[in-house]
This record gives sequence, structure tokens and C-alpha cells, in this order.
Amino acid sequence: MFSLCLGGFFPQSKDMHDVAMIELGPVEDGGSYIEELMELTAQSLSRLEIQEHFNVIKEIGRGKYGRVLLVTHRCRGTPMALKVLPKASTKLKGFLREYCISLRLSCHPCIVGLFGIAFQSDEHYGFAQELVVGRDLFAIIKPRVGISERVVKRCAVQIASALEFIHRLGLVHRDIKPENVLLLDTQCRHVKLADFGLTQKCGTLIRFISSTLPYMAPELCAMVPDAGQETPKAPPLSIQPSLDTWAFGVLLFCILTGFFPWEYCTSTDCFYEEFAEWRQNPETTEVPSQWMRFTPACMEMFAKLLALEPNDRSTADVVKGYVGKDWVRPKCPNGLMGENGGVSSMTTMSSPCRSSPVLQ
Ligand SMILES: Nc1ncnc2c1ncn2[C@@H]1O[C@H](COP(=O)(O)OP(=O)(O)O)[C@@H](O)[C@H]1O
Ligand SMILES: [Mg+2]
Repeated sequence: MFSLCLGGFFPQSKDMHDVAMIELGPVEDGGSYIEELMELTAQSLSRLEIQEHFNVIKEIGRGKYGRVLLVTHRCRGTPMALKVLPKASTKLKGFLREYCISLRLSCHPCIVGLFGIAFQSDEHYGFAQELVVGRDLFAIIKPRVGISERVVKRCAVQIASALEFIHRLGLVHRDIKPENVLLLDTQCRHVKLADFGLTQKCGTLIRFISSTLPYMAPELCAMVPDAGQETPKAPPLSIQPSLDTWAFGVLLFCILTGFFPWEYCTSTDCFYEEFAEWRQNPETTEVPSQWMRFTPACMEMFAKLLALEPNDRSTADVVKGYVGKDWVRPKCPNGLMGENGGVSSMTTMSSPCRSSPVLQ
């Protein structure tokens, strides 16, 4: 499985690959297996120059932490997706964790496969992944429109199944978003979750985070320190699968609508505030306008995925009970939502998904 080559096990150090300051929590079974795998990989990490072993065809992806290259293996001709992480911004421990967790999870049909090849060059750490020829889920979201409900439901059950598997192994993905869902076909008949660069053991403690994303749960957004402070008012947060469940709920909103529901889950975001108020007083508060396009059944599902209290949140597989029901209200001939659906004011109210020019 591993390419054999001498390499020392580097001392543990703060992971520059992560935006959060973390410390290890209670050891889970899955976690100790990963740690053993990390140690074994470190001892046998090949040193090679990418060009000597692979023909680099083109760059097929770029994220916050690394680049993904379409390559063919020089001897075998096998096409692969090589994820390369610059040593300048990646600690060895972070790389080993991402590689070993990806390897452990890669047997699931809805998680990207690995070749069992990890290496370091002078400037990079890298590992070879199965090449997923479609684009990622973000690339097929039509801004302000989203993706058809039928296709969203296909994605939803597959992502839920991948999350169920990850969580059963005592791990939390921590970066669920459309960019990290790879497509084998444009109709999403087969999708694969990727990017385990932020994945951690359940129970790992987060002391603070430096910035927020729309997919982050309220309890995570509370970990940003106030201006001029080094630590947040909130006590350290234990990483739980409920963080992924929340992000999954936001992802479903994004791909169904082509909008983010909010920018961040704090009281300064009026879209989040409106949603939180409705969740706290569902009997007396109207459904916020950007949620009115959804059926009551779909809203029930969202209420379970996006429960404000992490302990009240359902597991991701709750969506499986809702795929047989309608999610989006039918449109009236005038283009507005039917029966109690209200007029969608999303185009003026919500922020469009990622302000990439491609999607404007
Ligand atoms: N195995 C793969 N096959 C095809 N494209 C991929 C593959 N892995 C990643 N990508 C593309 O590369 C992008 C960045 O990869 P990712 O692993 O998410 O890096 P980062 O950790 O920097 O976010 C993804 O959003 C996706 O578009
Ligand atoms: Mg990514």
C-alpha cells in the first residue's frame, strides 16, 4: 500500500493547515488507528520530484490549501488527481493527517478514492487520488437559481451516506461545502465527498477561529474573538458531527436556491437573526421570506438539520426520510411562489453563493 522510503517522524507541531487553534481531545478508536497510520506513513514517505514520476497535464482544481493536478503515472500511464500542498504553508503532521484520514475513508462509494501513494518533494507534500472527471458541485450551481430538486436529492442521499460513515468512525469532516463534492456525471447520479484537510477526531477542542464561512454553525461562529481580543468569550468547543450536519443543511439551501442563506451565524447577520427568531418562536413568527419557497415537509427537514442547539440537531441521514416528499413549492404562472409561498425577495435580500465572477 505504501511506497517504501526512509523518512523520519517529525515532531508534533501546530498545524498551519488549519485556521483554528486546536488541541487533542479524548482518543477514539478510529482516531488511534489514524494516528498509527500517520506514524507508519511518516516512516515510509517517498521523496520524489513530481515531474520525474508523473506527466503533469494540467491543474484541475485549487482550494484554500492546495492544488490538484491531472497527471498520468510515467510508467503505467494511469490518470490520477495529484493533490499537492506547499511545504511553506503545510505542516507535515497536517499533511499526514489529511492523507491517512482520506485513505481510511476512501473505501466508501461516495468518498474519493486513493491510490495509496504519498510523497514529499523539495517544495511539496502530495498524494494521488482517483481522478473524478466531472466538475465539483459548486461549478454546476446556477447563481440565484440553484440545481433542480431531483438532482439535489440525489446529491443529498449520497452526501448523507458519506457523512454517516465518517461520523461512525469518530471523525468530523469540518469542511462540508459544494466545492468539496466531486461529480462523476453532471446529473449527480454518482458524487464523491473529498478534501479531508480539516477533518478531525470527534471531541477535539477548538479554542478559537480567525474567520467564518456561511457553512459554519452558530456555536463555531461564536469562536471568533472580538476585535482586539485573543480568545473568544465562549469556552473551548468540542468538535462534533453536528457541525457537519449544520453545514450540510446550508449546502442543501445553497444548491436548491443558488444563494447562501446568510453570511455568518451571528447576531450581526440579519438573515441569520431572522431565521434564528423563527426557530425560537415557530408558532408566532413567520417563516423568513427566503425560506418560503420550501414546502412544510422540507422546512421540517431544515429545522432538524439546522437546529440552533447542536444537541437538538439530527444526524445527516435524516434527509433520507424526506427524499420521497416535495421540497420546493410549485411556481404559479406569474413566477411567484404558490399557496403561502410568498414572493421570493431573495434576489435583493440574500447574498449570492460565492462572489466568483463565473457565477454572477
Ligand atoms: N480527485 C479529484 N478529481 C478531480 N478534481 C478534484 C479532485 N480533488 C479535488 N478536485 C478539485 O480541486 C479542488 C481543490 O481540491 P481540495 O482537495 O478541495 O483542496 P483544498 O484543500 O485546497 O480545498 C476541488 O474543489 C475540486 O474542484
Ligand atoms: Mg476544498
